[in-house]
Amino acid sequence: VCQGTNNKLTQLGTFDDHFLSLQRMLNNCEVVLGNLEITYMQRDYDLSFLKTIQEVAGYVLIALNVVEKIPLENLQIIRGNMLFENTHALSVLSNYGANKTERHPMPLMKLEEILQGAVRFNNNPTLCNMETIQWHDIVDSSFVSNMSLDFPRHPPSSCQKCDPSCPSGSCWAAGKENCQQLTKTICAQQCSGRCRGKSPSDCCHNQCAAGCTGPRESDCLVCRRFRDGATCKDTCPPLMLYNPTTYQMDVNPDGKYSFGATCVKKCPRNYVVTDHGSCVRACSPDSHEVEEDGVRKCKKCEGPCRKVCNGIGIGEFRDTLSINATNIRHFRNCTTISGDLHILPVAFKGDSFTHTPPLDPRELDNLKTVKEITGFLLIQAWPENRTDLHAFRNLEIIRGRTKQQRSGRFSLAVVGLTDITSLGLRSLKEISDGDVIISGNRNLCYADTINWRKLFGTTSQKAKIQSNKDGRDCKAQGQVCNRLCSPLEGCWGPAPGDCVACQNVSRERECMERCNLLEGEPREFVENGECIQCHPECLPQPMNVTCTGRGPDSCVQCAHYIDGPHCVKTCPAGIMGENNTLVWKFADASHVCHLCHPNCPYGCTGPGLEGCTTNERLSPQGALEFEFEFRSLWN
Ligand SMILES: *[C@@H]1O[C@H](CO)[C@@H](O)[C@H](O)[C@H]1NC(C)=O
Ligand SMILES: *[C@@H]1O[C@H](CO)[C@@H](O)[C@H](O)[C@H]1NC(C)=O
Ligand SMILES: *[C@@H]1O[C@H](CO)[C@@H](O)[C@H](O)[C@H]1NC(C)=O
Ligand SMILES: *[C@@H]1O[C@H](CO)[C@@H](O)[C@H](O)[C@H]1NC(C)=O
Ligand SMILES: *[C@@H]1O[C@H](CO)[C@@H](O)[C@H](O)[C@H]1NC(C)=O
Repeated sequence: VCQGTNNKLTQLGTFDDHFLSLQRMLNNCEVVLGNLEITYMQRDYDLSFLKTIQEVAGYVLIALNVVEKIPLENLQIIRGNMLFENTHALSVLSNYGANKTERHPMPLMKLEEILQGAVRFNNNPTLCNMETIQWHDIVDSSFVSNMSLDFPRHPPSSCQKCDPSCPSGSCWAAGKENCQQLTKTICAQQCSGRCRGKSPSDCCHNQCAAGCTGPRESDCLVCRRFRDGATCKDTCPPLMLYNPTTYQMDVNPDGKYSFGATCVKKCPRNYVVTDHGSCVRACSPDSHEVEEDGVRKCKKCEGPCRKVCNGIGIGEFRDTLSINATNIRHFRNCTTISGDLHILPVAFKGDSFTHTPPLDPRELDNLKTVKEITGFLLIQAWPENRTDLHAFRNLEIIRGRTKQQRSGRFSLAVVGLTDITSLGLRSLKEISDGDVIISGNRNLCYADTINWRKLFGTTSQKAKIQSNKDGRDCKAQGQVCNRLCSPLEGCWGPAPGDCVACQNVSRERECMERCNLLEGEPREFVENGECIQCHPECLPQPMNVTCTGRGPDSCVQCAHYIDGPHCVKTCPAGIMGENNTLVWKFADASHVCHLCHPNCPYGCTGPGLEGCTTNERLSPQGALEFEFEFRSLWN
């Protein structure tokens, strides 16, 4: 297996560099997981390493070559999971051959299947025999309209003709062995896909791609979707199975991951497992890698994924004084600042010496994802009409490993801001080292209600809260902590979300009078002074609690159906159980799920054989979605 490339028509270094990197990538490769791009090959290059390739998952691009021979003679299938110019799975463009007067075939003898995408041939004056190929036997009919086949009007006379025995006169090169094998257009009507001959008994199994040697799903030349050992399947064996006696999804000891078009027991080294049980090289941007039970998995990030960025004075910001209009976009999506942040008046004024325009105050929102600053935070300027440090609302910790030295050893300094009335640092839980100075902010209240000592990591840290708005004036003008705040702990501002601790209960970090225990939507229960939603499968109760805890088995009454101890949206229907059997259940009059009779293959609507459903109502896809929804209930 090899990765393939995504260079399109770009040349990497010299012709020789380009060739060597292709050779290194494809040496001994049978399955290309991405695209196969053969470009800029020069006349004397030896491309015999292409002979091992059997399968390409993306597209094949053969362009701008002057090489004599491109021996893709074992390529059977192009899956077209990615397409060149969003259209073509096979593009053969502007190949001139090594000697303009010599003609050569392109021996794609085994190519019998392109699952997605069309074919394009353009400007290949030295190619032979290609105009004879029946592409509609290879390409899926829905892509035929996008085919673009441009062959020389009169095939050069130096080309050798197809062998007369070739069916419909189509071949990849001269000689009997190079006839095109037809496996679709010749099939009997009964066949649903490919076949190995004209008779109805020659149909391939519908899991086959390219062709087959017999009728079973283990006789395919290539699998249309997944290969599990010798057998072609629609999906890999599921990782979880429903256990009808415990009413739970259990780990399937025979479950497999999908790796490209193959089912594997373990992902290869350097691959991680997604939610859906596929092996991938990197997690999607909204998830991160974790190790669970010895398996590396992608897990959804809670909020923005961790991203570490340099602070001011470090790396790309070495000679920078302040966050400013030129650099603020570099802080987008950062969760940890390695170093310090400075916001100085020059940011909002602009600086002609460094060609820095004034910072648009709205750009400060780029800092909203910051949770951690390893150094210090220095703010000496802030937009005129903003009343709190809104951009740092999610800041949780200032480590103070480096300190602002000029006027002390500060890790948090908010100095001389005229318009803020509160700090608004509602998530700040720790200042590990360094002193705090909040000074000369003439409209600022609330800062002296905070018990700074509780935030400090060492006993020697000090807080200087001085020359802000007079405490008596704050009180007189009602600029005091919200009544929902615990009166002992202080607050970062006037809102119920600014409290350090709550008087009663909280919901998503905001203080509340009470939770929705007996009324209100959604219904909740209380855990450690926090309002937490009941599971959506719990039926809201009038005048009574709706649930006693988390999850679908803590409901007082189910909203839909009851499967053992759990509330479920639907009874299990066609989900994989042990020994490769599907589990089906029906609901009785009181909405309790019961197992169908074991001889009901498509489920049932009631007990016994007479309750069996006769038709296949649930597609495998429907069952899969059910399983997925079901599985997520337990995670
Ligand atoms: C090109 O091929 C022709 C015919 O085989 C041969 O006569 C000629 O010498 C070749 N030219 C070059 C540059 O190799
Ligand atoms: C045909 O090509 C066009 C343009 O490249 C593309 O948008 C369209 O999706 C293609 N149609 C099919 C069936 O692939
Ligand atoms: C603004 O940021 C850019 C890029 O970091 C930097 O080159 C420039 O010196 C900065 N200007 C000021 C006044 O900090
Ligand atoms: C920031 O994150 C969003 C959402 O995850 C993403 O779409 C965007 O591309 C990211 N931007 C940068 C500059 O990383
Ligand atoms: C701040 O003031 C500027 C102009 O004085 C105005 O354009 C902007 O909308 C104001 N922003 C807020 C958040 O009030």
